[in-house]
Amino acid sequence: MKHFVWLTFILPILILSCKNQVVEPKPKPREIHMVPLPNQVQMLDGTFELNDKTSLYANGAHTEQVARYLRKKISQSTGFALPSTGKPAGNTIILQIDSTETSGEEGYSLKVTPDRVVIKSVSPRGLFYGVQTLLQLLPPEVESPSKVENINWEIPAVKIVDQPRFKWRGMHLDVCRHFFPVDFIKKQLDLMAMYKLNTFHWHLTEDQGWRIEIKKYPELTRTGAYRIDEGKRYGGYYTQDEIKEIVDYAAERFINVVPEIEMPGHSLAALASYPELSCTGGPFKVRNYWGVEPNIYCAGNDKVFEFLEDVIEEVVDLFPYRYFHIGGDEAPKTKWEQCPKCQQRIKEEGLKDEHELQSYFIKRVEKILLKHGRQLVGWDEILEGGLAPSATVMSWRGEKGGIEAAAQGHDVVMTPGNWVYLDHYQGSPKVEPVAIGGYTLLKESYEYEPVPAELPPGKQKHILGTQGNVWTEYMYTPPRAEYSIYPRIIALAEVNWTQPAHKNFDDFLKRMNNQFVRLDLHDVNYHIPLPEGPENTYAFTNEAELAFGTTRPVTMYYTLDGSEPGPESPVYNQPLTLDRSATLKIRTALPTGKMSMVRNIRVLKQQPLEPVEIENKTPGLNMSVAEGEIYSTADLNSLKNWKEYDLKDAKQFRKMFDLKHPSAAIMTGWFYAPQDGIYRFSTEMDEFHIGGKLLISNDGEVKKFSRNDASVALKKGYYPVKIIFINNIVGGWPSIWNGFALRYKIRGTRDYVKLHPGDFVH
Ligand code: ACM
Ligand code: ZN
Repeated sequence: MKHFVWLTFILPILILSCKNQVVEPKPKPREIHMVPLPNQVQMLDGTFELNDKTSLYANGAHTEQVARYLRKKISQSTGFALPSTGKPAGNTIILQIDSTETSGEEGYSLKVTPDRVVIKSVSPRGLFYGVQTLLQLLPPEVESPSKVENINWEIPAVKIVDQPRFKWRGMHLDVCRHFFPVDFIKKQLDLMAMYKLNTFHWHLTEDQGWRIEIKKYPELTRTGAYRIDEGKRYGGYYTQDEIKEIVDYAAERFINVVPEIEMPGHSLAALASYPELSCTGGPFKVRNYWGVEPNIYCAGNDKVFEFLEDVIEEVVDLFPYRYFHIGGDEAPKTKWEQCPKCQQRIKEEGLKDEHELQSYFIKRVEKILLKHGRQLVGWDEILEGGLAPSATVMSWRGEKGGIEAAAQGHDVVMTPGNWVYLDHYQGSPKVEPVAIGGYTLLKESYEYEPVPAELPPGKQKHILGTQGNVWTEYMYTPPRAEYSIYPRIIALAEVNWTQPAHKNFDDFLKRMNNQFVRLDLHDVNYHIPLPEGPENTYAFTNEAELAFGTTRPVTMYYTLDGSEPGPESPVYNQPLTLDRSATLKIRTALPTGKMSMVRNIRVLKQQPLEPVEIENKTPGLNMSVAEGEIYSTADLNSLKNWKEYDLKDAKQFRKMFDLKHPSAAIMTGWFYAPQDGIYRFSTEMDEFHIGGKLLISNDGEVKKFSRNDASVALKKGYYPVKIIFINNIVGGWPSIWNGFALRYKIRGTRDYVKLHPGDFVH
């Protein structure tokens, strides 16, 4: 064993200078870092040089698929054809099915010596993972979509014996909250394959959209695939041909696709299409805002089960893999409690309550799936009221459900929010693009341990693995989705593949530098930590001291002259002291040189505003409200029939607005500053004015978490304020869900002070 080293290895490879070039790039040492880290690595002497003479020898049943994949990959970046050879000689890559290999169905051995590369496995799947490791040993430019010149395509001599720790190595993607095109899905599958992920969990139906063509029920896509977002039709779906194309594409990469058809909840798009499947009969609209929908399939109506059976019949024909996800999460029971049919079912079946009715529902669907040879997977709510006998549980509300299911002898995929929910923030909500909430850094994803310590050893085998869950409420575009997915999914790939004893976060980060180059070649919009700290509008009176931090060690560059910071700009290494107004631009750079988004900070030297004397000091705000559907303060003038109110408290504010009656409000009054100081305001309202000036505008943004904090110098006393609130849904977030959302903190204090309408006077 001592000959094996568990390690990251670093090989300096010099980029050789090349003929006819006038300016040569400086020779640069290149580090080769594999992710996920193989489980046994032994360095050997020498290198194998991949060149135009290298041939490929594939031997054994069904190796053509792997050979085809490798040849395509190699030829597009290197230009080498990698011709087949009937007989392995020198300078050959050999793919060999070998029943004597001992690394299991997904394992492989890889031996690189100066004259050949030999990958062996008992299966084509194992060979495929060996090929991925081989690609990881090559310079990262091997991931280029077009031919790269001037590279020494060298592979270090090495012996690797490897197999995955877990068999369910997954990524989930919600294509319902936002719809993603076929090419985006294929790109994700390409990337999954690079990191040896083998399960794509495809969340295809939701309250906000039905995304899979079902020939027997055309309304599902005619009606159910579209909703109205900000006055415009939004949606889309995959035809059965497109589904087949994606499933085939995944299979080429040894990725199994698990469809998810949600039931009994998260089904409003289906109910909008076929309202007779609900408890009340509808009518319904496809939901155009996030959150949990109370209308669900009726459990007392046999037509619902006929419908689901028909849908399942078409879906299983498209998805050959044995697992089928039926959702099962977040199904409120309020409609069932009030529905005579559901109550009748409870009576007839001798069920105790609506939880047992849910269990009845799932077990009935389980029978349909078993008829088709499919195995049911559901979110951990399917434990409530009793698990279906053959169910596999996906534990998302922490690990408790997973532990309970495994203790009962059920298989479990561990997907607890705090570690694997890739919709969480990965930096400060004050600077990151809006997200659903949560806070899961790369390190937390990396350090996730899928086998809970409290699980008895005999039950640990039920933990199949983990997956990154990508819920797309706030992932409005493909690049925005990638920003959330990467690099955390790669950390989870290592969680799934590499034995815990070989894992180390700092080492992973080093190896990621090579991976970031690969991701760049795939044009992946991965997250780069942003400089965190001061607000974007930063007031000061004498001297500003701006201190920044990042969530992991990266270099920060800044400018003060309005130009874009680049690698030549000053490096931030201590708080910046300023005695004049400036536009501060600051961003980070990875060791690869790739830069983050830029933060633009207006640093403003100010005289404190002068307070005003006021006579009336009645608590509350004046509020004018008009009904009408607008999305921007620019359209306020289009609203008519403004009505006046006295706004006393936050409860009154909430009661005045609902989603059925879009409207806008303008509130005015005086804010009392209790002391001299720099006041940082934060709001999810549309605008906040103080002292007659607009301080914060959230116009055009999703009003979930304020990202436009701004400060102002105030003396103790009263200041006129104006607050504009548009009651509408922007980006799926209803602004009224924030309530009266305004707060401040005085520089030098830690916590925000929440402001209520009664804290103002008018
Ligand atoms: C879930 O996140 N609702 C499974
Ligand atoms: Zn019902």
